[in-house]
Amino acid sequence: MPVSKKPRVAVLISGRGSNMMSLIEAASAPDFPAEIAVVISNRPDAHGLARAQASNIATRTVDHKAYADRAHFDAALDAVLEEEQADLVCLAGFMRLLTPGFTQKWAGRMINIHPALLPSFKGLHTHERALAEGVRIHGCTVHFVTPEMDVGPIIMQAAVPVLDGDTPDTLSARVLAQEHVIYPAALRLVADGRARLVDGRVSVDEFILAPPALVVPPAR
Ligand code: GAR
Repeated sequence: MPVSKKPRVAVLISGRGSNMMSLIEAASAPDFPAEIAVVISNRPDAHGLARAQASNIATRTVDHKAYADRAHFDAALDAVLEEEQADLVCLAGFMRLLTPGFTQKWAGRMINIHPALLPSFKGLHTHERALAEGVRIHGCTVHFVTPEMDVGPIIMQAAVPVLDGDTPDTLSARVLAQEHVIYPAALRLVADGRARLVDGRVSVDEFILAPPALVVPPAR
């Protein structure tokens, strides 16, 4: 009987790589339906590169500073993804805007994790902005990547409470713990073909994750 090959995942990072590690750890389970084939950083000094190497994952660097503009950088990145025979791309703290041509080429095969409950708080400094707005519920989102930043079809979200006395650091830590739960779970759904793009939205055949407990702080 032919052995079916797991999809090869390229994880793109720019920094410490904690979400990358959650994907590597999840994919080390024999029943995980995808293989982390390579980690690619746009920063040569990204701490995540050493962490990936320590887990025996191949790493590549495509230094954005070596390219004149976004189009040339994206072409180089695309060439590396093709060389590595990537089937799926996971952006994991990858802090570069991608060109429409690149995102269109990888449409339906590239996913991102964002530290907020989209469509709220697109962009940067999400935890500071959530605290400034006084929201009581915050969280994180895994979505397919489309040309417009932080707008693509949503695969999975997790909510956390915002507690009195939270700082950006305490809130960020609470959200990050949930990022590490939902990113591997969402990749599993995509790699299994159980989360599919239908008419610009995500159809999920089966909801496999129990939502995290949400604690609503008592009124003062
Ligand atoms: C994560 O919180 C991720 O959601 C965020 O950067 C952090 C990377 O941490 N991504 C974005 O803000 C993308 N818009 P990590 O390197 O430890 O995974």
